[in-house]
Amino acid sequence: MPKHFLTLGDLTPAEVESLVNEALRLKKSPSDEKPLEGKSVAILFAKSSTRTRLAFEVGIYQLGGFPIFLDHATLQVGRGETLADTARVMSRYVDGLVVRTYEQSVLTELAEAASIPVINALTNSYHPTQAVADFATLLEKKGSLKGLKLAYVGDGNNVAHSLLLGGAMLGVDVHLAAPEGFEPDGAVVEKAKSFSAESGGSITITESPEEAVRSADAVYTDVWVSMGQEEETEKRRKAFGGFIVDEAKLKLAKQDCLVMHCLPAHRGEEISAGALDGKQSVVWDQAEYKLHAQKAVLKMVMGE
Ligand code: CP
Ligand code: NVA
Repeated sequence: MPKHFLTLGDLTPAEVESLVNEALRLKKSPSDEKPLEGKSVAILFAKSSTRTRLAFEVGIYQLGGFPIFLDHATLQVGRGETLADTARVMSRYVDGLVVRTYEQSVLTELAEAASIPVINALTNSYHPTQAVADFATLLEKKGSLKGLKLAYVGDGNNVAHSLLLGGAMLGVDVHLAAPEGFEPDGAVVEKAKSFSAESGGSITITESPEEAVRSADAVYTDVWVSMGQEEETEKRRKAFGGFIVDEAKLKLAKQDCLVMHCLPAHRGEEISAGALDGKQSVVWDQAEYKLHAQKAVLKMVMGE
């Protein structure tokens, strides 16, 4: 069975920790190692992307491999070919498959039929490579992760789920504030809590952004309207009214608190321009770490 990367919850805490450390190492000491020499990787995206797509294409090239970007809309799968057949055929040509799609079940269906590794580049449920990049950024800036208070303010979405799982595995105290009806999935929270019990971290879910942010080492937010939820825009803007990460909320956090966002950001909506562009913001470092983190993931599942 090939090694897939579908959600952090499938990995051991030690594997997640080594991915984060490897991302840091790849940034600090870039080397000429080419573990993907002679290997081709298909990148199949059904949703928009700037960072993840580019970081995979460049990362695969830097590791010696050949990236092939495929727009979902132009494949036969859009005309009714099954996911399983698509995965079987792709496995005969390429050595790895990176997928951005809607339902997590699309990814698992592809992975079950493929004889090559499948990597999650974002689904409605998870964004695991993003979390590796985010924890690498935090580790670089803070020196260690255990006992850090990470406040996530906003939608209990794909990014939130992966931060909960990764944070729990790495011993982080994750405090997540979401309005009623937009909390993270209960099963993900339970799974994260069980990882926390092992790592010494903690998971706290609240409806109060102020409570989450108080004394935090890092404050993280993401868009209120994720890809595929455009029809809910008005409803979401109303529900998330008090959840903007701005200078007033940052005053409640530690003085050296970092401001994080996976990007793309909407200034004046989930985050103020002052917070996003201010001195505490590490969002551009996070974006850079996507390259190092995705390379670490590629090495882990395709490197030998
Ligand atoms: N953060 C992130 O995944 O960005 P893209 O949607 O641009 O890939
Ligand atoms: N939650 C966002 C993340 C984008 C990188 C979305 O799914 O659209």
